[in-house]
Amino acid sequence: MDSKHHAAGSAAARRAALLQDGFGHLAHGDPVAAAAVLEQAAALPPVPGDDDDAACLADACAGWGEALALAGDPAGAAAAYRRAITIEESAGGRARWAWRLAHAEALAAAGDGVAEAAFRALAAERPDSAPARLGLGAVLAAAGQTAAALDEVREAAFLAPGDPAVTAVLAGVLVDAGDALAAVELVEPARRRFGDDPALLVPLGRAWAALQEPDKARAALAAALEADPADARGAAAVLAALDGGDEGLNPAYVRALFDRYADRFDADLVTKLAYTGPALLHDALLRSAGAAGRAARWERALDLGCGTGLMAVPLRPAVGMLAGVDLAPRMVDKARARRLYDMLSVGDVVEAMEAQPGSWDLLTAADVLVYLGDLHPVMAAAARALRSGGWFAATVERRGGDGFALGPARRYAHADSHIRAAAGAAGLAVRLLEPCSSRQERRQPVPGTVFVVERV
Ligand SMILES: C[S@@+](CC[C@H](N)C(=O)[O-])C[C@H]1O[C@@H](n2cnc3c(N)ncnc32)[C@H](O)[C@@H]1O
Repeated sequence: MDSKHHAAGSAAARRAALLQDGFGHLAHGDPVAAAAVLEQAAALPPVPGDDDDAACLADACAGWGEALALAGDPAGAAAAYRRAITIEESAGGRARWAWRLAHAEALAAAGDGVAEAAFRALAAERPDSAPARLGLGAVLAAAGQTAAALDEVREAAFLAPGDPAVTAVLAGVLVDAGDALAAVELVEPARRRFGDDPALLVPLGRAWAALQEPDKARAALAAALEADPADARGAAAVLAALDGGDEGLNPAYVRALFDRYADRFDADLVTKLAYTGPALLHDALLRSAGAAGRAARWERALDLGCGTGLMAVPLRPAVGMLAGVDLAPRMVDKARARRLYDMLSVGDVVEAMEAQPGSWDLLTAADVLVYLGDLHPVMAAAARALRSGGWFAATVERRGGDGFALGPARRYAHADSHIRAAAGAAGLAVRLLEPCSSRQERRQPVPGTVFVVERV
């Protein structure tokens, strides 16, 4: 064998080995590891004229798509499935149905407008496919085309009677269509049969809310949150809307979310989401101190929503006494293990500030205010907690226009004007307020704002 053929042969063998490894991770429920390995398998150049290698490459791309979808990157998943489909179709004929369906589902999950056309093509090809009709119905519902959505989802329910996924979507569309009672009648028997499935409980909660039964709505939504603290279906946002929408997220929800997340937090945030909040905040503090001609040193600092303690790393050398507070006990355990704080407590940030008025030179909140809505109470508490000349520094997600709003990822975004208004109302002077991005979502930087305000 000449060296060119040898190299091609070993590339094919390497891809096959990576493919096996990647599917192994998928089978063991580790989509993040699977995505990393299958990405490598998909990146190896194709071996010219080798049909088996081309098939292996298409499998690698489809597997990568599956892993990305499971890891919460639907846009990446759609692109990987698209590549698998293109490779398979280059050999002639249509790519396999399962990949085309998964591609459409990934497009829909990514909020890509092309999803409707993809599902329409699938539903036209196989009008008796419940997943295709359900997918089309769900995208039409998301686009506000409620009547057309109802037709498609009812068809899916006829094709797959009793399927809980279809029942859940149908219930949601019925609520959108103004028939909340039909949604309750549909979900209650399914709930008895399938138990507390959050997919059923969230539309049930929405239905009870529409029927002016807030207690029943709260019970269903709380059960959904308990069954799925990561809240993939947005129960917390419905609860927040039910409670007037501007009181921040339910603390029980935030605590459960981060307690569950504590073990994976550092690795996920730093590697997957490219999180740089503490470094950004530290840099903003250094520059503000430079501009004010002050030493970048603080006697007593309180790190609000300290989490696992990432903020303590840059802060520790600049602070005399460093305290931290967080709602989630397991996050506080992780922070304690870092051995950088002098004092740690479990509790709410506003209550922690109110507990020790006039006693802090520095308050920090890295990626924490995204869990609070209106910043007026936080700024007012910070103003009371700070000594004269003390600083409050934080990062938030940025929203254009005015005010603040809860986004689909159940994090609040705040307008710069809202930050200024809340600081001004509390008597805090803005020393720095500028755009930044402290994390990525779907591999795109999330727009943010970093600010430093001073109790004058
Ligand atoms: C995204 S983490 C950021 C943690 C840390 N500041 C960092 O930069 O790594 C948000 C943290 O804020 C905490 N948190 C959210 N709302 C809170 C509140 N009202 N009171 C106390 N902690 C809160 C959560 O429990 C979580 O640990």
